Amino acid sequence: MRALVWHGKEDIRCDTVSDPQIEDDRDAIIKVTSCAICGSDLHLFHNLIPAMLPGDIMGHESMGEVVEVGAAAKATLKKGERVVIPFTIQCGECEQCQRGNFSLCQRTNRKGNLGDKAFGHRTAGLFGYTHLTGGYPGGQAEFLRVPFADTTHIKVPDSIDDEKLLFLSDILPTGWQAAVQADIQPGDTVAVWGCGPVGQMTIRSAILLGAEQVIAIDHLPERLSMAAAAGAVTINFETESVIERLNELTSGEGPHKCIDAVGSESHVNMGQPDTLLDRAKQMVMLENDRPHVLREMIYACRPGGVISIIGVYTGLVDKIPMGQAMNKGVTFRMAQAHVPRWTDDLLRRIEDDQIDPSFVITHKVDLSDGPEMYRTFRDKADSCIKVMLKP
Ligand SMILES: NC(=O)c1ccc[n+]([C@@H]2O[C@H](COP(=O)([O-])OP(=O)(O)OC[C@H]3O[C@@H](n4cnc5c(N)ncnc54)[C@H](O)[C@@H]3O)[C@@H](O)[C@H]2O)c1
Ligand SMILES: [Zn+2]
Ligand SMILES: [Zn+2]
Repeated sequence: MRALVWHGKEDIRCDTVSDPQIEDDRDAIIKVTSCAICGSDLHLFHNLIPAMLPGDIMGHESMGEVVEVGAAAKATLKKGERVVIPFTIQCGECEQCQRGNFSLCQRTNRKGNLGDKAFGHRTAGLFGYTHLTGGYPGGQAEFLRVPFADTTHIKVPDSIDDEKLLFLSDILPTGWQAAVQADIQPGDTVAVWGCGPVGQMTIRSAILLGAEQVIAIDHLPERLSMAAAAGAVTINFETESVIERLNELTSGEGPHKCIDAVGSESHVNMGQPDTLLDRAKQMVMLENDRPHVLREMIYACRPGGVISIIGVYTGLVDKIPMGQAMNKGVTFRMAQAHVPRWTDDLLRRIEDDQIDPSFVITHKVDLSDGPEMYRTFRDKADSCIKVMLKP
């Protein structure tokens, strides 16, 4: 089959590889009808997350048709069914799965000892996302082996197009969780840093969850326009002072809730000198991430507010103002999305036409154009916001 394969830093190729086979009773194989490139894939593209190996197949946003089912998965999954595959692999039985913390499943990370060493405890297996989370082949491919398939799928109706359903795999529940974990109350101002695909889903979720005012921060005009179309007030961090504007828009009190939809790779620019320092430290491996947004959120946040982090961080960050955070009494909440916790509700909202996540797609191309699309998406070239790939 064809698949997008990681060969090293900024080197992803469309290769011919062996088709996946059933390896365990709980497996299924799906024929991928659509998949997408995520901001998290860019961290792997830049080799910022350790434990990728040449030959690893990329991708964790996929959907398709079930073509083979292992004996133990047959009770819940049948050949021919149409499914979206969550980026988290979950057993459904462990203590974390029972609590709905699916991205923390204790059983699906087949290389859990690496996770134990790196993080203190293992986290769930993830598709196409480094050997710290199991090293499972991803779904930017013609076929995908789904481990624990009996509990790792979302059945979707035939009557709705792939475009509207694909993002149940990741960015829609991720944006939703970012807003839910901000604990939005009536009257709240919610500021969202980052208007990429995740930020866009977060902005719309915050509005649906009752935020009075949503403020969206980025520097790319087309992404700010998309945020404005949802009803957000926008701030361009390259031409305006984020702190001054946030204070203006909140009578000097700051946003009640601050959401980080940027993560590790904050934009590096002269106007934000700490990003230059982070970049230099990152290059000599003195720091893993560029946490400008965390610093800015802590400074901007209203005392007693919530900081919800959904952007991915990979390791150690420097100069986080814990004194400000502690004395202002802010609450931090963060996670890789617990995808299936939200998907029944979100699928119903898609069926009811309350949410249509397809608005974010700007590029729809053949899988073989994937390597070029990684560069286009990374460079935010050609007004690229979200790439959908058709195997
Ligand atoms: N927690 C999860 O489960 C989960 C799931 C999916 C993605 N993510 C993470 O979410 C983040 C965003 O993903 P995406 O697909 O939207 O990526 P993206 O790269 O398309 O978007 C990031 C956006 O942040 C903007 N940005 C950069 N620096 C900024 C700053 N200082 N202030 C405001 N905006 C800034 C960029 O211009 C860009 O538009 C990534 O870190 C990704 O890994 C997390
Ligand atoms: Zn993702
Ligand atoms: Zn589990």
